[in-house]
Amino acid sequence: MPLIGTFTRSPAKMPLLDLSKITAGLSKTWSGFLRDWDRSLRSGNYPETTRYNCLPSAVFSSWPAARPPAWLAAQVAGAYSRRHHSGKPAMEGVETKLRRGASVADVGCGFGHSTVIMAKAFPQSRFHGFDFHEPSIEAAQKLAEEEGLGDRVTFEVTAAQDLPGGDYDLITFFDCLHDLGDPGAALRGAEEVLADDGSCLVVEPNVSAEPGENIHPIGRSFASTSAVLCLPAAMAQDGPHALGNHPGQDALEAIAAEVGLHSWRPAVETLTNLIYDVRR
Ligand SMILES: C[S@@+](CC[C@H](N)C(=O)[O-])C[C@H]1O[C@@H](n2cnc3c(N)ncnc32)[C@H](O)[C@@H]1O
Repeated sequence: MPLIGTFTRSPAKMPLLDLSKITAGLSKTWSGFLRDWDRSLRSGNYPETTRYNCLPSAVFSSWPAARPPAWLAAQVAGAYSRRHHSGKPAMEGVETKLRRGASVADVGCGFGHSTVIMAKAFPQSRFHGFDFHEPSIEAAQKLAEEEGLGDRVTFEVTAAQDLPGGDYDLITFFDCLHDLGDPGAALRGAEEVLADDGSCLVVEPNVSAEPGENIHPIGRSFASTSAVLCLPAAMAQDGPHALGNHPGQDALEAIAAEVGLHSWRPAVETLTNLIYDVRR
């Protein structure tokens, strides 16, 4: 069988797996992925509700363990303080604003780790986390309370395309833009509520849109996660896109330009992620 190609399998012909046996002894992360993978592969023949169930189960059961806060902290620090190879700060002007006191929206914040890490790094600024998954927002609120950040950090159950508020100096999308069924609507919403000189920070996996270029450990791991997590998540939203986690810069840049965010600049590149500075 070739490594790259299009493969289909009718859900009706899928053999029934004994998931309790298959996942016995696996970490919470991997058993969550496997359960979700099984459910989403079968979902073609199932009612709508089954398809929607696959998203919360994947995100809620697996994500915090798969994405440790230390890893996120490194992304945040890199974005604000590192220099781009042009010699300019990675996110030009953003660190100064955050140190003085800025208003930040963290879209698709999940369990709120990114929001809390930013809030701890910039004590003069206010942070607002949004996610459409209620259990994630409850966990995020608990985390902020435990960290004593309740006065500067808020969380709200809100879909990315319905971003409330206004005049945000910074709007962040940590590893979630490609998960949205309608990333264009989310970026359009962000454009509408950005302050005049505001910017968006978009963190995406550092893998190619060309499958043949992803045959290495990081590319393989992203591609396989995409199949079990990112693609079903976006497909369950019935939007115009299901990008997977390796749409490539050109696709994302085109979606942003369509909604008025014409400046799309890679700010920081790490082994695993590309961080973009996106503006009007
Ligand atoms: C891969 S997780 C990233 C979570 C968090 N930003 C982080 O880096 O840890 C993607 C997040 O996007 C959220 N999400 C997916 N579609 C969404 C939508 N349409 N509106 C709001 N949040 C959404 C999911 O619930 C999930 O929390």
